[in-house]
Amino acid sequence: MEILHNFSLKNYNTFGIEANAKQFIAVHSVSELKNVLEQNSTEKKFILGGGSNMLLTKDVDALVIHIDLKGKKVIQENEDFVWIECQAGENWHEFVLWTLEQNFGGLENMSLIPGNVGTTPVQNIGAYGAEIKDSFVSCEAVKIENQETKTFLKEDCQFGYRESIFKNQVKDQYIITSVVFKLTKRNHTINTSYGDILTELNKNNISNPTIKDVSNAVIAIRKSKLPDPKELGNSGSFFKNPIVSKTEFEKIHQKFPEMKFYDISETEVKVPAGWLIEQAGFKGKRFGDAGIHKNQALVLVNYGNATGQEILAVSKDIQQTILETFGIPIEAEVNVI
Ligand code: EPU
Repeated sequence: MEILHNFSLKNYNTFGIEANAKQFIAVHSVSELKNVLEQNSTEKKFILGGGSNMLLTKDVDALVIHIDLKGKKVIQENEDFVWIECQAGENWHEFVLWTLEQNFGGLENMSLIPGNVGTTPVQNIGAYGAEIKDSFVSCEAVKIENQETKTFLKEDCQFGYRESIFKNQVKDQYIITSVVFKLTKRNHTINTSYGDILTELNKNNISNPTIKDVSNAVIAIRKSKLPDPKELGNSGSFFKNPIVSKTEFEKIHQKFPEMKFYDISETEVKVPAGWLIEQAGFKGKRFGDAGIHKNQALVLVNYGNATGQEILAVSKDIQQTILETFGIPIEAEVNVI
């Protein structure tokens, strides 16, 4: 275990932004992690997982601890279900593919989401009609302050749309080290409720899809809309889809009858920010090396050498224009550092 100084984080953030960590260390076991925390108790710390949901706008003046814990195993099973414990540093998509190889169902709609397993509960990742909370059982986490291990059960996590306790009450207090998922071994629930999936399956004449077919459909849709961070730096959706009260929305909808929306409760609707950004004329635009993706306006991209500040400026310009045009505030989904 060695602490490195002035370490470039360019390969550790999917935006591919050049920024340095004052100090950097990768940990490969929970005991290593606890040692580092104990020995550096007075240092400012910054926890880094897969680096897929952050925008670095400056050097990180802290000890960056990269969570590189690997491993996955079946911890319990019966005829219908299997419980799998996966270490935080495993790549999410590789883990999903591994579950599908064993014919374990539940994660297929979330194929190809970038990032590592340990950060999936933090923002309750979701896509194509599924969210991590649907398969999540519990996670283990180490408290930074005293290195104690705590188990968070699903009901402790306060999951919401891209929300959890880890972004709120216990923000910056715990490091998730492993996650337990409960998956199906048979009688899989096939979820094709998200329109694009059915269209993709029909295109391939699949009327009775398996979990692998659903995964393949999601992979095809994502590849057609979302840029691969290895080819074009990005952090997935940069903004959250805004939630607006129905009373407020009715006024806005009268002015913009084409505006898309989804009912999410008796009193609220969700508006696709991608639609708003596209209508405001930003889709596919480029400002130096920072830009808005041509196939999905929610995704900001780095064409090569954009700085975090440049991408942040574009995001602010978008927020301001959307607010002025539609009267709807949109919030960043990624963590701006
Ligand atoms: N839309 C546009 N223009 C665009 C993009 C979208 O008009 O440029 C419209 C689409 O036509 C569609 C609606 O917006 O009617 C929704 O689009 P899409 O299905 O692409 O989903 P999204 O709401 O834009 C969310 C997630 C994605 C996830 C997809 C699919 C958020 C912030 N984003 O995007 O998650 O993959 O649904 O489930 O909720 C991520 O979090 O990084 C991410 C990629």
